[in-house]
Formats: sequence, C-alpha cells, structure tokens
Amino acid sequence: MAGLRYRTADLRTGRAFGGEWTIDDRGMMMTKKEPVFRNTLYTHDNLYVLAGLNSELVDLIYLDPPFNSKRTYSAPIGSKAAGASFKDMWTWKDVDEFHLDTLAAHYPVLAKYIANAGTMHGKPMMAYLTYMSQRIVEAYRVLKETGSLYMHCDSTASHYLKILLDGVFGKNNFRNEIIWCYKKWSVAQKAFSKNHDTVLLYTKSSDYCFHQLLQSRAKSTLKRFGTQKIVSGFDDYGKRKPSETTKEKSKGVKMADWWEIPIIAPSSKERTGYPTQKPLALLRRIIEASSNEGDIVLDPFCGCATTCVAAQQLDRKWIGIDIEKKATRILIQRLSDDAGLFKDFVATDQVPKRTDVREVAPSKSVKEQLYKAQEGMCNACGTAFELRHLELDHIIPKAKGGGDYYENYQLLCGSCNRIKGDRPMEYLWLKIETRERMLKTRVFFGE
Ligand SMILES: C[S@@+](CC[C@H](N)C(=O)[O-])C[C@H]1O[C@@H](n2cnc3c(N)ncnc32)[C@H](O)[C@@H]1O
Ligand SMILES: [Zn+2]
Repeated sequence: MAGLRYRTADLRTGRAFGGEWTIDDRGMMMTKKEPVFRNTLYTHDNLYVLAGLNSELVDLIYLDPPFNSKRTYSAPIGSKAAGASFKDMWTWKDVDEFHLDTLAAHYPVLAKYIANAGTMHGKPMMAYLTYMSQRIVEAYRVLKETGSLYMHCDSTASHYLKILLDGVFGKNNFRNEIIWCYKKWSVAQKAFSKNHDTVLLYTKSSDYCFHQLLQSRAKSTLKRFGTQKIVSGFDDYGKRKPSETTKEKSKGVKMADWWEIPIIAPSSKERTGYPTQKPLALLRRIIEASSNEGDIVLDPFCGCATTCVAAQQLDRKWIGIDIEKKATRILIQRLSDDAGLFKDFVATDQVPKRTDVREVAPSKSVKEQLYKAQEGMCNACGTAFELRHLELDHIIPKAKGGGDYYENYQLLCGSCNRIKGDRPMEYLWLKIETRERMLKTRVFFGE
C-alpha cells in the first residue's frame, strides 16, 4: 500500500488456500489431488485473462505487444490470415481505469515515470505505457518464482519498456538484451537499415531456469582449430599462451546475445500472412533456453499462435491470448493443421477465474473485518462513520474481473458509494476534490 491509508484491490499475492479445487472448463482445471491443465487459447483482452489466472502459474512468458508505432497492421488479401488486423495507435481510451488506482498505489514511482514520459512525448505515449505496465504487473504475478519473461520490442519502444520492466521486476533481474537480426529489403530512408528487433529478458528471481544453448564456431575459428576442443592458459609470467586443440570434440560455443534468424520468407510454408508473425525458430530458442518439458508457456499477445506451436513442438504446455476475433479463425486452423499436434486444446472467449484466492461471500463478519482495517472510515472520503452507515463495495466491479475476494472489498459511505456506482475508484476520487492525494493521482495520469 506504499504509505496510502486506503485499500486498493490487491490480488497480487493470493496463494492457494485449502479446500477443494473447482474444475472449470475454461482452461485452469485443478483438483486438490491432481492438477489438470489444458492448453488454452483465449480470445479476449489479455488484461482480464491475466487477472483471472492464478498467481505463480506459468514458467515462461513471451510478449510481443504492439509498439505504439501509430500503424494499423493488416494481413494481405488472399493470405491464410486475410481479414485479420490490429491497431497500434494509443489513446487514453485503451487504458483500463479500473486498474489505475492499483498501479498508482503499488507502483507510485512507475506512475510518476509514466507521467513524465507523457509530459515529454504526449498523451498517446502515456496511454501506451500505462496500458503496458498494467499488463506487465499482471504478467509478473502469474509468473513462477523461477520463471522468465521475454519482452519483444522494436526500436520505437524498447527503451521505455525496459524502464517499466525494471520498475516491476527490479533491475537486478534484468538478464539480457537479445538482438534478433535478420536481412530484409529496406524502405528508402536517410538512415541505416533497421534490421533488428530487441528482446529483453527478465527473471522473477535469481533462482531461474536457464539452459545454456550452444552455437557453432565462427568460420575463422573452424578454419584454424576445426571442431576439436580448444584449451588456452597463462604462462608463469601471467602471459597468455597460444591456444591449442585437444583430442576431444567441441560441442560448440556458448550462445551470444545476438541471434541471426531469418524472417519468414514470403514463400515459406510457415507463413500464415498474419501481420508481424514471428519465426518458429526464434520462439523455439527462447523456449528451449528458459523452460523444461512439461512447463507452462504463456503468450498474452499471441497473434497467429507462433509461441503455442513452438511450445507444443517442444512438449511444453501453453496458454495463448489475443484480442483479435478475426485472428482466432486462422489461429485455430493453424493449431489444428499442425501435423495433428493439437488434438486437445480449449478455445474460448470467456475469461478464466482464479482458484487460488479465497472467495468470500459478502457478510457481516467481512464488514466488521474491513471496518477495523479502515479504522472506521469511508475508504474514499475518509470520514468516520458507524459501521451500519458504511456499505460494502467491490473495488473492481465483477463485470471487470473483480471477484468476491476479501482483497477486492471496501467499505464506502452511502454518498461515496452512489457517486462511484460501477465506476472506477479513480472517478470517485476525482469527485472528492478536497482529497489532496487523490488530486495527485489525477495529475499522475494527466486527466
Ligand atoms: C505484434 S502482434 C503478435 C504477433 C505474434 N508474435 C505472432 O507470431 O503471430 C501483437 C498481437 O497483439 C494483439 N493484441 C493487441 N492488444 C491486445 C490485448 N489487449 N489483448 C490481447 N491481445 C492483444 C494483436 O491483435 C496482435 O495479434
Ligand atoms: Zn465517503
């Protein structure tokens, strides 16, 4: 709560409680004895799907979000993905206001940074960064302690996204800036050809899964030493001795942080025509480096499901999310086509429901508990009331993914509750003009 007196919906830390797990047919299926997981493709805004996934559920997250490039991407007519498109332009309307107060309360420094970026670069940038940080915060929560997150960026957004990731993961958990380089025809411009993307790797802790991948030797090394293992050392004076080969064969050299992987050729069988489709080879490398067989891989911006295909090929489990309904058709076709690999997966446009937070029906004892926590005051205007004059409210309404969880309840006075209705707390705070802190929040978010 970072120094704030009022409660905000904090569903970040929910862990498994006792009791029987429920089995639902929307992806997360668990029984107490034996967890059952089904690969699932969600067609929905990823913020709400992420908010419905259990904490510490997945081992690896790959995100390939839109970049604020002010373009609309469309699949070419005649391609498998024809009809699919997504926009890459941002306004304040893209930001979910219900999750704003959570961001401001739990990541105040990040909120300040976003406000500053907005002052420098305008509202679309601020909206984009807010939109992205809301998703990064949720992605962080659903990642296991040993998990890794790969954020795929282009040069328009990578430096901003890195600061957001530093803010949520901690900059000590930054592991690599991977440069994915490729050859492609460049558009005429007075600059060097833009032939790389950046992929930022963060881990949730210092105890993370990582398999050292190997690559073959550079041509010059092969010419000089062949494929034999090389040893080098220092003489008695600390001077480096010339390298020598041994009888043993070398397995290769440790993979560097720049990867030459061709983009998908126009004639390639892999190409679906989906705009911004990434090569399977890129995703396979990421998955092999940072997960084990049987692990769960999540892609919240999955497009034509490249990550899901790669995960399936490598015997990992997967969750894919994309908002674009038109993409779902091609996506399901790809999953079903792929050599019968995908006999069994769930495709749904429903959001999942967390099973790791205890549902608490609204009751007198919940009210009493909250009354103590709020020190007898309305959670918005701060006025003291007797318990009977305070009303139970869902901080994030149920329609927006907020559930009957203790963490999502608050007590409001009748007047505040009527002003708020089914709106976000941000709206209520803006109405309570005497509240200095609330005004500050408003300034943070530029409204
Ligand atoms: C850069 S593309 C991803 C391409 C993907 N890596 C592939 O190989 O096909 C970004 C995707 O994010 C989706 N998207 C944008 N906003 C979203 C949101 N809020 N929730 C879920 N998906 C979203 C778009 O529809 C688009 O398919
Ligand atoms: Zn009040």
